[in-house]
Amino acid sequence: MEIPLLDLKRQYLQIRTDAEAAIHSVLASGKYIMGENVLHFEREFASYCGVKHAVSVANGTDGLTIALRSLGIRPGDEVITSPFTFFATAESISSVGARPVFVDVRSDTFNIDETLIEAAITENTRAIMPVHLFGQTAAMDEINHIAEKYGLRVVEDACQAAGACYKGKKTGSLGHMGVFSFFPSKNLSCAGDGGMITTNDDRLAVICRALRSHGSGEAGRQAFYYMDSENCEPTDDDIPCNKYCNYLIGYNSRMDEIQAAILRIKLKKLDSYNRRRREISAVYNRELQETGYITPATVPDNEPAFHLYVLQCENREQIIEYLQQKGIGTGIYYPVPQHLQKAFRELNYVPGTMPAAEYFTRHTFAIPCFPEMTAEEQAYIIQTLKDALGTLKGGLNNG
Ligand SMILES: Cc1ncc(COP(=O)(O)O)c(C=O)c1O
Repeated sequence: MEIPLLDLKRQYLQIRTDAEAAIHSVLASGKYIMGENVLHFEREFASYCGVKHAVSVANGTDGLTIALRSLGIRPGDEVITSPFTFFATAESISSVGARPVFVDVRSDTFNIDETLIEAAITENTRAIMPVHLFGQTAAMDEINHIAEKYGLRVVEDACQAAGACYKGKKTGSLGHMGVFSFFPSKNLSCAGDGGMITTNDDRLAVICRALRSHGSGEAGRQAFYYMDSENCEPTDDDIPCNKYCNYLIGYNSRMDEIQAAILRIKLKKLDSYNRRRREISAVYNRELQETGYITPATVPDNEPAFHLYVLQCENREQIIEYLQQKGIGTGIYYPVPQHLQKAFRELNYVPGTMPAAEYFTRHTFAIPCFPEMTAEEQAYIIQTLKDALGTLKGGLNNG
């Protein structure tokens, strides 16, 4: 049996009629950028997350960068984040000229260890960027408490966690700002790139709207005054304001209408997609416990979105090879911890400084866990995982 890690075609086939009608209607409208679909999707997503504002952007990486810019984070500042994540998390910090400060992850949830954050705070720290890795939320109460104590901002990297909940609240509403990716592999995905910034803060929303579109127009004009306290409030007799009046150095990072149209259709299905991911994960947890694999920990008060279902074991490479021979797709998220990326060499981290993250980069792998998977496919994966353990000479040890 051939089972890919993720099969995007199956999801498309389920929404095909609606998606094709929506795409055709965009094409026929002649309005391809910042039209009705983007406007509606922003409102619908804000309401889904339980926040005042959702600002769409071209991708999650831009979303993180623009969120940091809107907070005024700049060269000389430090932002605390996790070393066990996708590169874009820390890349966004560097791209605004600030320094990523890595704090090791917890050994159970893969998320930043909140008990280690305070020790990493310096006079230059401005923000904490927790990542809800693999769809499970970080310890937000503790993180928000620390942020409040030290006057820091919290930007959730919720790129992998659309629809996940923490104490009954949706991701994107758990810090000062939240950022999502709609990359095709994500829980809520489009047919290309897309992203979203969420916040309850009116001013931050205006600044993000300005920055995503060259700092121009009315949002740019307002953002100009918000960003610099020396600028007085905008007045009616101020210089004219249109899209060719630019107030800030921003980005071209708008979501296009076709992506928004697809996302509106899928947003209605996100809860059922995530429910199915949790059902699949529960079966894996039950069937794989007390084998040679460590299954993902679930923490109280948390409704994970299981963007990925990640196992730990010794002899990872042999297990992956065995699964591959049997037609089962796997993935390694992530093989290099961020503090040891060559791109961050100037930060001068050395191996051994983030033991939990470094351990995970050597021992974890993801197995198929997508909503459209069948029970038959899952049974085959479970049996093959068990066979893999039996086949490996000498068996496996958890370490
Ligand atoms: C944790 C995390 N942060 C940021 C990103 C960046 O999102 P995008 O690929 O949409 O730029 C991703 C997605 O790839 C991610 O998984």
